[in-house]
Amino acid sequence: MDQNPHSLFFVTFFGLLLLSPRVSCQLDYKFYASTCPNLTKIVRYSVWSAIANDTRMAASLLRLHFHDCFVNGCDASVLLDDTGATKGEKNAFPNKNSARGYEVIDTIKTNLEKACPSTVSCADVLTLAAREAVFLAGGSYWDVPLGRRDGTTASESEANNLPSPFEPLENITAKFTSKGLDVKDVVVLSGAHTIGFAQCFTFKSRLFKFADGKPDPTLDASLLQTLQSTCPEDDADSDTKLSPLDSVTSTKFDNIYYKNLVNNSGLLKSDQALMGDNKTASMVINYSKFPYLFYRDFAASMVKMASIGVLTGQSGEIRKNCRVVN
Ligand code: HEM
Ligand SMILES: *[C@@H]1O[C@H](CO)[C@@H](O)[C@H](O)[C@H]1NC(C)=O
Ligand SMILES: *[C@@H]1O[C@H](CO)[C@@H](O)[C@H](O)[C@H]1NC(C)=O
Ligand SMILES: *[C@@H]1O[C@H](CO)[C@@H](O)[C@H](O)[C@H]1NC(C)=O
Ligand SMILES: *[C@@H]1O[C@H](CO)[C@@H](O)[C@H](O)[C@H]1NC(C)=O
Ligand SMILES: *[C@@H]1O[C@H](CO)[C@@H](O)[C@H](O)[C@H]1NC(C)=O
Ligand SMILES: *[C@@H]1O[C@H](CO)[C@@H](O)[C@H](O)[C@H]1NC(C)=O
Repeated sequence: MDQNPHSLFFVTFFGLLLLSPRVSCQLDYKFYASTCPNLTKIVRYSVWSAIANDTRMAASLLRLHFHDCFVNGCDASVLLDDTGATKGEKNAFPNKNSARGYEVIDTIKTNLEKACPSTVSCADVLTLAAREAVFLAGGSYWDVPLGRRDGTTASESEANNLPSPFEPLENITAKFTSKGLDVKDVVVLSGAHTIGFAQCFTFKSRLFKFADGKPDPTLDASLLQTLQSTCPEDDADSDTKLSPLDSVTSTKFDNIYYKNLVNNSGLLKSDQALMGDNKTASMVINYSKFPYLFYRDFAASMVKMASIGVLTGQSGEIRKNCRVVN
């Protein structure tokens, strides 16, 4: 094959473009440096006071960001209220009576509108709030590329298609892959379940007649006993009772979630399923032994998740109120 100088130029030029460390198109670590210099301080203080009032809020804010990014990309669609004309995502099955933290985001946005009106997107607020929440719960800290813009539509049907604790690992992995994430991201981001709570109905199928009339054999006997007493078999009223996703340190962002999985003490079937596959199990064991490996990889996977389908430039808008389009 003959190499003319032009093809050499193109190979070199585009080769360098591909190598340049851009996280995703047009997001920028210093996006608000001149337009809202106190942004981080404002978000941090609001998240801190929300968690000081309710430790679970760290978990709830982290999950809200996940539920935003997996539906229409990270565009704050999860924050839109239903209107007469259009349905939002708040009443989709995975969110209804489950997603929390909307008021905290409202408070942050109100404070930001005072300091720098019509400047910071609700999608960036969600991303920053999740980062602060993880850090304040004892986890890692990472720099967040900014400049997302807010969507003008929501998708109830896509929200109903969020990863479910009732589906097998292959299905969950396929949903991550369809968003540009991979199986490592599944294992790493599932580590978010080191904080927060789940309602009985999300894991109750494991507790009584799971297979052959017996409970799930991959559920530790003593945890099983505890869960059976929180979620009695014939008591539908208990379906909304809460159990910690990490029964050992439910408010601390650490790697004990993975140690629990190694010990058959994952709460959701989808958590424990990470031990049922050789590839994911070896990653789980790795993270159970090396907390700093988990912290590092969690930060990297969060940046990846936070870049799913982002609107930048002139796309979308900067909402004034996170609950409604302008
Ligand atoms: C891998 C697939 C996932 C499944 C099947 C799943 C499923 C669930 C379920 C069923 C709950 C309990 C909800 C309730 O009972 O109301 C929950 C809670 C939670 N999830 Fe996930 N999740 C997944 C991935 C993630 C990811 C990627 C994150 C964040 C990076 C995350 C963060 C959380 C947090 C922090 C909570 C606790 C929320 C609170 O206490 O308010 N999850 N998840
Ligand atoms: C940032 O906050 C400080 C107080 O913490 C305040 O003095 C300053 O005016 C604020 N800057 C802007 C640009 O809002
Ligand atoms: C504090 O948390 C409780 C729930 O635990 C909530 O009902 C209340 O609104 C919160 N208060 C403030 C000031 O955030
Ligand atoms: C998993 O995905 C397959 C293929 O898309 C689908 O047929 C099946 O119903 C899914 N299983 C569950 C439990 O959602
Ligand atoms: C896991 O099991 C081992 C041995 O049974 C025990 O020493 C350890 O404390 C358990 N870890 C957790 C997180 O429960
Ligand atoms: C997974 O590991 C088990 C032993 O733990 C082994 O028997 C099996 O062949 C392995 N499967 C694959 C696909 O590597
Ligand atoms: C375990 O972690 C090391 C880095 O400390 C990495 O090189 C290795 O690939 C990891 N193994 C798995 C199965 O994730």
